[in-house]
Amino acid sequence: MPLPLDFYLITDLHHYSHSLGISGEAFEKKDMREQLCLAETGAIIDAYIDKILEDKNTNIVLVAGDVSNNGAMESHLELIPKLRRFKEAGKRVFLITATHDYYVEGNSVGDPVKLVGDREYPATRTRREQLIELYREFGLDEAVAFHSQSHSYCVKLQEGYRLLCLNDDGDRSFCGYSEDQMQWILSQIEDAKAAGDYIFVMTHHPTLPPMPLYPVISNGDMLGDWDRTTTVLADAGIELAFTGHAHMHNIGLKITEKGNRYYDVNTSALVGYPSNMRKVRIDDEKIEIHSLSVDSFDWDMKGLTVDEYTKRHFSSMINQILDAAADDFEYFADLAESFSMRHEQSYKLRKPITFVGKGLRRWTLGSAGRLLGVSKKIDPSVKDLVARDIILELIQNAFRGNEPYYPDTPLYIAVSAIIDRISKPLSHFKKTRDAVSLLQALKLSFYNQGPDDYEFVIERKKG
Ligand SMILES: [Fe+2]
Ligand SMILES: [Fe+2]
Repeated sequence: MPLPLDFYLITDLHHYSHSLGISGEAFEKKDMREQLCLAETGAIIDAYIDKILEDKNTNIVLVAGDVSNNGAMESHLELIPKLRRFKEAGKRVFLITATHDYYVEGNSVGDPVKLVGDREYPATRTRREQLIELYREFGLDEAVAFHSQSHSYCVKLQEGYRLLCLNDDGDRSFCGYSEDQMQWILSQIEDAKAAGDYIFVMTHHPTLPPMPLYPVISNGDMLGDWDRTTTVLADAGIELAFTGHAHMHNIGLKITEKGNRYYDVNTSALVGYPSNMRKVRIDDEKIEIHSLSVDSFDWDMKGLTVDEYTKRHFSSMINQILDAAADDFEYFADLAESFSMRHEQSYKLRKPITFVGKGLRRWTLGSAGRLLGVSKKIDPSVKDLVARDIILELIQNAFRGNEPYYPDTPLYIAVSAIIDRISKPLSHFKKTRDAVSLLQALKLSFYNQGPDDYEFVIERKKG
């Protein structure tokens, strides 16, 4: 019987080299627009590496992509020596890259050359082909098979265990697996089975929704053709995949029509909120998944814990968007570009956005309930909650995972009564049906679907 397999997994390091201009007003402005702690990436990454190095019994580290922020060569070259510390300590690293790690003509994701205000911040772009040589020592050197077109590879982690490191960075419009890649994946699964090895997957984009609303508003951020692909993988014998990209902490479960279970362990960004890594043990009987964080990193934390610090940074971006919607439309249109809303689109919606932006500060659950005739469903304990605070908390919860507002909580009952009241007239018209499904997916996103997102044990299938 093979020995248990132990490993750590980190993802979405988004390393940002200070040489790209970390100080000064322009960066501050840019930085506060990011949900990630960009100035702090080096310090956070070092703290996690230190913590993993303390564990002398676990010698494998997986890295699930977006290792640099926007593909600056300066950031890659600074990150590599950090990762080498693992190797110097006798640990093995298996890494995939993703869309943030290289430049594609005309696409701002992966383009480190940025205009902030009227000043251009120069940086060296990285081409996709360069990534192979840059990161060869972190996995590819040990590959038992390599799919060159996609940069995917398969490794034998130890006796009895194989990992498919699947690159899904596609062409930016479709981040998934090509037909050829899929055939290669299936043949790797067959090879592993024939050798009696357990095989599982690491890929960057989420393969199951990290929350029900996610594919409704951001399907392009899911693995391309995720529903069909996960069915094929599960029915071919894969029951476990590790993913990143969403920056959300979640474990999702799907059971295919043929009755096969498939888990997607989506891990939050190391440099975002919440900041977590996974520690996993797989043995013959079960898969144990744990979540761990560092206690501090080498930075002026202003007396806050890591959780408080990253949460404050994350919220400041959302607060800025909400404030700008109410008071400063030009700035809102500017910020909206960071969530893929073009300037023209924003300006078309200027009036309703400003109206809602201002309203969110005034509307309480009580006042909305009265206006919509659902007062009976608004418990006194939640009637004074302001819409804006609720939105902020729900967004934070979605990223943190283990969302707490189950259908029997006063907040869920109140908000779902309001949502249902608004949905009712909309469901009569074809044009507004999308809005209705969005609102229904929103309700489901109030509480955790499926397994616990932090600590979970999967009983392994027998035979
Ligand atoms: Fe990503
Ligand atoms: Fe990311």
